[in-house]
Amino acid sequence: MVVLQSFVTLALLLASGVQAAPADPCAAIGGKKWVAPSEVRACYQSFKLDNSVKNNIIDVVNRTLAFHTSTNYQIRAPAPFTVDVHVNVPQELARIKRQSYRSEYDFHVDLSRTVKRLNDGHCVWTFGCYVPFFFNYLPIPLAHLTDDRGRQGVYIAPEAFAVASAEFPDQIDVWQNALPFHLKGKLESLNGAKVLLINGLDPYASVNANTLITGSYQGYGTRQNAYAGTTFWATFAQQSLPLADSVLLTIQRKGAVIPDTIVLPYRSRLSTSAKAFTDTASWRANNCVATATTNEEDPSTRFEQAPPIPVEERVRHPINVFLDDTPLTNVDLPPTLKPALPAVKGSRSVSQFYLLDDKKTGVLALGSFSDTVYDEFLRGLLEGLLTLKSEGATQLIVDVSNNGGGYICAAHWLHRIIAGPKSTTEPQAGLDTKARAGPLAQAIVDELNKNPKLDTDLFLNYNPQNWRDASNKPFDAQTNWLRPVVESTINGVPDAFSPRLGQECQPEGFPFLAPTEALFDPTKVVIVSNGRCASSCSLFSITMSKHEGAKTVVVGGKSDIRQQYCGIVGGQSTNFKTIDTEIKTTQLKNNSLAPPDLLVAGSQGITWRLAFGLDKPEEPEEWQDHPADLNLPVTAALVNNPVAIWTEVTKRLLQ
Ligand SMILES: *[C@@H]1O[C@H](CO)[C@@H](O)[C@H](O)[C@H]1NC(C)=O
Ligand SMILES: *[C@@H]1O[C@H](CO)[C@@H](O)[C@H](O)[C@H]1NC(C)=O
Repeated sequence: MVVLQSFVTLALLLASGVQAAPADPCAAIGGKKWVAPSEVRACYQSFKLDNSVKNNIIDVVNRTLAFHTSTNYQIRAPAPFTVDVHVNVPQELARIKRQSYRSEYDFHVDLSRTVKRLNDGHCVWTFGCYVPFFFNYLPIPLAHLTDDRGRQGVYIAPEAFAVASAEFPDQIDVWQNALPFHLKGKLESLNGAKVLLINGLDPYASVNANTLITGSYQGYGTRQNAYAGTTFWATFAQQSLPLADSVLLTIQRKGAVIPDTIVLPYRSRLSTSAKAFTDTASWRANNCVATATTNEEDPSTRFEQAPPIPVEERVRHPINVFLDDTPLTNVDLPPTLKPALPAVKGSRSVSQFYLLDDKKTGVLALGSFSDTVYDEFLRGLLEGLLTLKSEGATQLIVDVSNNGGGYICAAHWLHRIIAGPKSTTEPQAGLDTKARAGPLAQAIVDELNKNPKLDTDLFLNYNPQNWRDASNKPFDAQTNWLRPVVESTINGVPDAFSPRLGQECQPEGFPFLAPTEALFDPTKVVIVSNGRCASSCSLFSITMSKHEGAKTVVVGGKSDIRQQYCGIVGGQSTNFKTIDTEIKTTQLKNNSLAPPDLLVAGSQGITWRLAFGLDKPEEPEEWQDHPADLNLPVTAALVNNPVAIWTEVTKRLLQ
């Protein structure tokens, strides 16, 4: 009996020894820079969803969206975006709350994709545990090109190898060795190859599938361009989640007689902004749980357009900026792909000025409306334009490709100095706004009215002294500027907004005197982009186009799809943390509508003020049509060659 018992015990011990605590899948990728996407998924999916965390996230998102101006509009956007934007997020959150998930990762994917279906780059759920953490890469970015007979197709970017080997020197051999026998070590020979099939299907099937999950822009064409785009690390070659392990491609290489079929593995690289970890416990502690900056104050700029705006500037100058989960700052371009012209005086950081060889076309390449020093940014814009003029420029191209916005008043400044003083620039170019006036928002303003000392620095968005009414008259400290509330019914749902707000930039928003005359004839200004122009960039482009007759160009994209020259207009953007700061500063955290503190390192972005339209002045500009005057096909000669693009635009629109 005794013997038998110890035998059983030994057997149990052995059995449990065999199945001993499974190895930690996150330890397998801990401390590594490059891993396989399947290993990242194994780590992510090993972490179960804690129900209290799930409810906390849903609650924070739900209650923050009560401050998002567009929630009810986005249930069904007006034409031409009805098909692109139709999500009832409050209903979807109720579904997500009921649904069970295998892991926290699966929950995150569902929540973030649900919100992304709004195709609104201001309204995005972010969670540092998963994005940015590991990014999935291939060394062959794709480009959508038009051949010399006008036929469009998907190609491997002609400069793919140079770009990939500059960016991934420590990984390129893995891909070289993954190629089939006759191509081993010859990754460069894939440059410019025509892509015939992706995973056995027409490449556009893959492009179009991506438009359903990529988010960010209302325009279908803009979302198509997010995949095989005019930016190298578009979503085919860079995934923000470990979605795919490999891709099967059938390609026609340049000069090859028969097509090749290849399989290339995706490789996952630890994001430069991820915090080091060695196992599940340190991954969670360093990247997933709420930090001192998750709730209230000191807004993190982790997910916004580069360069980040410092807190001091953000407090003084309202911003309207796009949230992007695949920041361009994560990769660099080799010097051969930067414009070959010398930059003229006034150029700094995101604003670079050039004079084309014709000596009459000036170019402002404006990558962002964000800058670390607001006053210097505005000074540089003026100095650069004045330099171009003094060097003989009589016409101007403003290239705003991938410009995701930034300072609102910088957009008005640029418009004002180009177009001169006139009814459309003074006091401002338009796009009056409204905020949502829910009960908690009204209560915040009531508290500030009762006790202006709560915010003597005018730090809070809800402080009446930061805004002006529709006649541009400043509100005083005792006015609840959200009232009288404008009761509205949007897509059948009762909603409430503030009265119309007027201009906010002049005079304090302009640190210098603007010139007394227009610097350029606005009809000789062309705004060029890849369609990825958002927020303050949209504000600038729309008012220049609709008020001043500036021309707009979208470079690239399918010729049978309408190309929007901008999107994601917004009005003013903000996020959960800022709203939490407003609530805590006015001591309303115990209000039954206040979101709880977020338990994880996440955030929810929102549009806090929504801009009114120019063509339809009572409707938001957000879902009005912005078709480009010219859709310039990208040929092999133009792809990734900004100077060639600017020269071609000059030829077509400015001579
Ligand atoms: C979201 O908030 C609204 C208003 O407070 C509430 O009625 C609804 O139940 C909430 N939804 C979820 C999923 O918590
Ligand atoms: C909320 O908190 C404030 C002080 O922070 C307190 O005066 C007030 O009574 C509280 N209200 C509720 C409903 O608990």
